[in-house]
Amino acid sequence: MNGKTTVEAVSATELLRGDHRRIRELFSDFESVDRETKNYIARTAIDEIELHTLLEEKLFYPAVRSQVEEAGELVAESVEAHHLAKILITELKVIPYGDRYHAKFSKLADTVLEHLKEEEEVLFPMVEKSDLDLQELGLEMAHLKMRAVSKRGMGFRSVGLGRAAAILAFGTLAAFGVALFARSRSERFAMSER
Ligand SMILES: [Fe+2]
Ligand SMILES: [Fe+2]
Repeated sequence: MNGKTTVEAVSATELLRGDHRRIRELFSDFESVDRETKNYIARTAIDEIELHTLLEEKLFYPAVRSQVEEAGELVAESVEAHHLAKILITELKVIPYGDRYHAKFSKLADTVLEHLKEEEEVLFPMVEKSDLDLQELGLEMAHLKMRAVSKRGMGFRSVGLGRAAAILAFGTLAAFGVALFARSRSERFAMSER
């Protein structure tokens, strides 16, 4: 141990499945909460999706593309699915909260849910049967996640929520960390709208 932060060992696909579970839970929560809370849930889900997309596009997809030849087409389809989600997220970031925002967020949820299902039912099993070292890749992804969360967390240390980044980075209590992080983002977002 060299004094640096360490992350829990987890396989790449398990790490991604964990992200999927949290994203699904947020989509489900969105359906059942009041209008005010929907805005907060939507912002939280968008943060989760963006972080997850970063991990897949920076590390997971390139590794799969280079080492699991038969998965090339599925990776290309996944990148397109991400592209569609990004377009909706870009729009969600500039329109005000309200019926149209909620309708657009529901469309994002439909798009993302379909993509998660495809990854879990087709892409991940294919990758898990391959020779790709998922433990090594998982470690790399966990480190990237830690760095990304820490970077995003820097902005809210002043309001006492900096611990959220560390909690999430360790891969434990991730949902709690994201909630704090998202609340901070949501507060900053609301401030910037004033
Ligand atoms: Fe994906
Ligand atoms: Fe995914």
